[in-house]
Amino acid sequence: MDIREIDQKNRKKIDDFIICQWFSLQMALHGESVDLGVADGWYAVQDDEIVGLITYRILDDRMEILSLDSLNEQHGIGTALLNMAVSYARTSGIPKITLITTNDNLSALRFYQKRGFDMARLFCNAVDLSRKLKPEIPLFGIDGIPLKHEIELEMYL
Ligand SMILES: CC(C)(COP(=O)(O)OP(=O)(O)OC[C@H]1O[C@@H](n2cnc3c(N)ncnc32)[C@H](O)[C@@H]1OP(=O)(O)O)[C@@H](O)C(=O)NCCC(=O)NCCS
Repeated sequence: MDIREIDQKNRKKIDDFIICQWFSLQMALHGESVDLGVADGWYAVQDDEIVGLITYRILDDRMEILSLDSLNEQHGIGTALLNMAVSYARTSGIPKITLITTNDNLSALRFYQKRGFDMARLFCNAVDLSRKLKPEIPLFGIDGIPLKHEIELEMYL
C-alpha cells in the first residue's frame, strides 16, 4: 500500500471517490456545509486503485479531520491514513485534532478512542440540521440505529 498526498493532478479521482462514499462533495457538519472538493489530505493506493482517503481542514487552533474512509477494512489502511494526519499536525505545531462522527458509528468511536482521541462534545439532534443541508443523509444509520447526534472527539498533541 502506498500513501500519497492529494494534489490537483489526482483531484478528479479523489472527488469521484468522495462522491461514491458520501453521496456528494458536500459534507454537512453541525449545520455547516463543508466542500470536500477543496480539502487537503492523503489517499491510499493499492494495485493502482484508491482504497482509502483522509481529508482535513485547518481551523484557528486545530486540525479538523473531515472524512476518513477505508474500502478494505482491517488491513491497516485507516490507521496509516490517520497517522499521516497526526504526524503532519505534529510537525506543523498544531496543538489539537478534532473530528465529528455520528451516534450510530460505533466502529468509528472504537477506532478513534483506541488511537488517542477522547469524546469532547455531544451535539444533540445536530444531524437534523445537517439533513436540512444534505437531504441524502438517511434517518437510520449503521445497523438501523436512528441517526441523530454528532459527537466531537479530540486529541491534544
Ligand atoms: C473507521 C475506518 C476508517 C477504519 O479503517 P480500517 O482500514 O478498517 O482501519 P485499520 O485496518 O487500520 O484498523 C481497524 C482494525 O483492524 C486491525 N488490523 C489492521 N491490520 C490488520 C491485519 N492485517 N489483520 C488483522 N487486523 C488488522 C487494527 O488493529 C484495528 O483494530 P483495533 O482498532 O482493535 O486496533 C473504517 O472502518 C471506515 O472506513 N469506516 C466507514 C467510514 C467511517 O465511519 N469513517 C469514520 C468517520 S469520519
